[in-house]
Amino acid sequence: MAKLILHPMGTVLEISEDKPVLERLREEEIYVRSSCGGNGSCSDCMIKIMSGEDNINPPGFEEIQLLGNVFHLTKERLSCQLKISGDVTIDISHHNLTADQEKREAKNKDFAKSKIIVKKKAQVQEDLKEKAAEREEYLKTKDDWKTHWKQEDDPMNPKRLGGAKRPKLFKSIEPEELEKVVEEEKEKREHKINKYSKDSADSKDKK
Ligand code: FES
Repeated sequence: MAKLILHPMGTVLEISEDKPVLERLREEEIYVRSSCGGNGSCSDCMIKIMSGEDNINPPGFEEIQLLGNVFHLTKERLSCQLKISGDVTIDISHHNLTADQEKREAKNKDFAKSKIIVKKKAQVQEDLKEKAAEREEYLKTKDDWKTHWKQEDDPMNPKRLGGAKRPKLFKSIEPEELEKVVEEEKEKREHKINKYSKDSADSKDKK
């Protein structure tokens, strides 16, 4: 049996080598914070080793993940993962039950102050109906875009019914000139095609 000495109370506990320190403290109803139930995942049960470093087990993978590999500097260990094989003194002074309870109560008060609306079933039905009506109204306005032609024209804000990206050519031409310009464009295009096919035939002949 090893000796576990608790700072600042000076209490001395006997502990077997295979028992985690947190478990032993719980047996004696000595308070050490813990929120993961001793699974090594919350880091709340952290204590400081004051003496007897040589008599403790090395930290495991999960503990190193939580506290880092800096025991030689901080002397901090998770009491739920700590086992001792000889006399060890640990500091548990920052585990204060009263302070923790006060914190918890303050939190609960804040929660109680927060607005929780409890509605009766009838009220819920009423609200649902109201929402359904609102949605219907919304859908009606949402469909307006389909019937835009029924709306009256606003001279200050003319409708843009697409075609904003028409080719430049057609933007500035009067309707009577349009046919002529289109013919010219056709001719140009045909000329280009002929030239291209002639050039490619020539290059084939050269080969
Ligand atoms: S009790 Fe949560 S890590 Fe030890």
